[in-house]
Amino acid sequence: MTDHMTPYSEDNTLVRVDLGARSYDIIIGTELLSQAGDLVKPHLKKDRVAVITDTNVMALHGAQLKSGLEKAGITPHFIIRPPGENQKSFEGLQAVLDALFELAFDRQDMVIAFGGGVIGDLTGFAARVFKRGCPFIQIPTTLLAQVDSSVGGKTAINSSYGKNLIGAFYQPQLVLADNNVLKTLGERELKAGYAEVLKYGLLGDLEFFNWLDENGADVLSLNPQALTHAVSVSCQTKARIVAEDELERGARALLNLGHSFGHALELEAGYGGDLLHGEAVSAGMLMAFEFSAAQGLCPQGDVSRLETHLSAHNLIQPHDLTNLIKAPDRLISHMDQDKKNEGGDLTLILARKIGESFVQKQAPRADLHAYLTHLAKTLPHA
Ligand SMILES: NC(=O)c1ccc[n+]([C@@H]2O[C@H](COP(=O)([O-])OP(=O)(O)OC[C@H]3O[C@@H](n4cnc5c(N)ncnc54)[C@H](O)[C@@H]3O)[C@@H](O)[C@H]2O)c1
Ligand SMILES: [Zn+2]
Repeated sequence: MTDHMTPYSEDNTLVRVDLGARSYDIIIGTELLSQAGDLVKPHLKKDRVAVITDTNVMALHGAQLKSGLEKAGITPHFIIRPPGENQKSFEGLQAVLDALFELAFDRQDMVIAFGGGVIGDLTGFAARVFKRGCPFIQIPTTLLAQVDSSVGGKTAINSSYGKNLIGAFYQPQLVLADNNVLKTLGERELKAGYAEVLKYGLLGDLEFFNWLDENGADVLSLNPQALTHAVSVSCQTKARIVAEDELERGARALLNLGHSFGHALELEAGYGGDLLHGEAVSAGMLMAFEFSAAQGLCPQGDVSRLETHLSAHNLIQPHDLTNLIKAPDRLISHMDQDKKNEGGDLTLILARKIGESFVQKQAPRADLHAYLTHLAKTLPHA
């Protein structure tokens, strides 16, 4: 992995994901939509692309991407879906595939995912199965998608048995993360994405956590330099971990810091939008730190530091989710469904300190139950 300037604009930062023949670049900068044609063109065999997006993103940023592509002589065919998690379904997949068949696309044609993680996951999986695989490019438009879902090649739709259960590892050819598109993102979505940024500091990079402690407010107010730095460091960390462990047999699991607790909270909330994924992860990371400290694995001082950071930026914490935490048995049974678990034992991602997380296999259930019971008792009653 390298971090150097692109040849296209000195304002852009480039992060390389090193995966041998499947390697690709993540370009981070401002005004990337209007440069999209020039950036995408070297990856095309034909002068047309299909752009999969949702109605929100289309209305806000579609025209800019369209003209950016057309300027370079590329014809975009927009496939526009309704927004929302339920697009990650067989129906959503079929609609996208049918639209590609209608366009008479073949395996040489390029598909572009233009949206948040929902569009990215759906498009990536559609590209993987369309005629056994056509190339695709990610243009993520939420902070969460820029630092997490667009990088690393996990693609999926949901099943009635759970989220992301039908999927494939399929790497994009290129990722374009444009700071400017984030200006239209709601505050909740932005903070949810920030939680995933913070995760990279917590799981393996104390220096980045310290930087966020100083500059988190600038990131959240979309200062372009701060944002570019935060997205670049996040993508570098994800790229490094993915390059080490593309298929999640080991180190990649660390990216799930806060996610076992978070997924349990999401299941408890239902996926109706009451609790965003990043909000669940924000609270879940603090729970992972608290549980680590309760087992004597992590200093209490680091738990307090994290708590202070979350409070300073009004990020979601367990005390905001009293209603979801009141039933420890239910939370544990949700945690039992996690894909990381093996042989009926719980696997958790825990912390030794800020900047160092690790995989705990066979996490002690009794201790977990005691921690969650204690947490439920100490939370303010709703
Ligand atoms: N593949 C992975 O590795 C991975 C990792 C993390 C999350 N995910 C998946 O990502 C999904 C969540 O992604 P998300 O948080 O981006 O949600 P999302 O894609 O649903 O987007 C959130 C909302 O913001 C809107 N939106 C998108 N860009 C916007 C913009 N620039 N301005 C205004 N509104 C905009 C969307 O229309 C949508 O209503 C989940 O399905 C999750 O499973 C995947
Ligand atoms: Zn996540």
